[in-house]
Amino acid sequence: MSAALFPESKLPALGTTIFTQMSALAQQHQAINLSQGFPDFSGPDYLQQRLAYHVAQGANQYAPMTGAAPLRSAIGEKTAAQYGWQPDADKEITVTAGATEALFAAIAALVRPGDEVICFDPSYDSYAPAIELAGGVVKRVALQPPLFSVDWAAFRALLSVRTRLVILNTPHNPSATVWRQSDFEHLWQAIANQEIYVLSDEVYEHICFAPEGHASVLRHSELRQRAIAVSSFGKTYHMTGWKVGYCIAPDAISAEIRKVHQYLTFSVNTPAQLAIADMLRHAPEHWQELPEFYRARRDFLVNALSASRFEVLPCEGTYFLLADYSAISDLDDVTFCRWLTEHAGVAAIPLSVFCADPFPHKLIRLCFAKQESTLQAAAERLCRL
Ligand SMILES: Cc1ncc(COP(=O)(O)O)c(C=O)c1O
Repeated sequence: MSAALFPESKLPALGTTIFTQMSALAQQHQAINLSQGFPDFSGPDYLQQRLAYHVAQGANQYAPMTGAAPLRSAIGEKTAAQYGWQPDADKEITVTAGATEALFAAIAALVRPGDEVICFDPSYDSYAPAIELAGGVVKRVALQPPLFSVDWAAFRALLSVRTRLVILNTPHNPSATVWRQSDFEHLWQAIANQEIYVLSDEVYEHICFAPEGHASVLRHSELRQRAIAVSSFGKTYHMTGWKVGYCIAPDAISAEIRKVHQYLTFSVNTPAQLAIADMLRHAPEHWQELPEFYRARRDFLVNALSASRFEVLPCEGTYFLLADYSAISDLDDVTFCRWLTEHAGVAAIPLSVFCADPFPHKLIRLCFAKQESTLQAAAERLCRL
């Protein structure tokens, strides 16, 4: 008898993500990779210098479980400057291993077996597996192109006595649309009378082009009393590989999230936390200027694609752009993206992979967190189609 065991999967439907698949295909065909969401340029020099400094100073042991004190207090001040409300750095801010850990810890802390969690589809791919591992049931509200706005009647129709959590994401990956303050008010009106928590994934909070700016859950004085807002320094400082993020939530909710965080990672990379604290204090202009930084890249790609047969959808936030390829091909979006990588030399992500239900639109997602030369080269290839 063999000693090897083969566990019954707790997530049987999950395989290798499309992001990994497309990046591998891009490499195989030496395609320009606009699929996975990461910059092909480096983060601020000052931040890198501060990391080296703190390593050299010996800040190499475990950080406090909730996050390094200088970082938590810098986050508190930045939140006040940005959203007009200051969370308590000791009780309401928790530093996590990227936004991914904050999302997982919040879901694990709040969702019990049989609880229902409402997500808006297309949705970021980490939510559903975390909900399922917690024994929860995913309920989905479909967002329809081109506006991807929430049908609040459909949302209300999904609410039940078992609804425990709502997960939203603004600016929204992959649609590049943003919530308005009025959306948060609709949400509040719909859930005010039930014990329903709100997990607001705001990792692109500084990449928002809407004239009224980013509408954070933290600006809503009632919702923030039952919300967890999630942020990522990976997005803000072009350092996705550092995996430092954080969540802000009221004391009682943070206490439960920290119980999970304590045994999931315990604490996050010490020198990186201290370097980011320095960066927040000494160079706040970096995050203040980020919308303009990415607006220029967005406009560059939009202009470069204006000569193509792709129809580019409006982009109000994130570093992604949606393009409709109906004029070019009848292929479904997954097949088209493979074809595009192999034959046109540009890798993109099909939108349908963000949806549990059929999503029969001809839309691909392109990442513009790239150098102009990369975007130019990709656009030239796309314009030939
Ligand atoms: C919507 C959304 N949420 C969360 C994350 C994860 O962020 P992090 O890299 O900080 O874990 C991403 C990363 O792509 C994202 O797009």
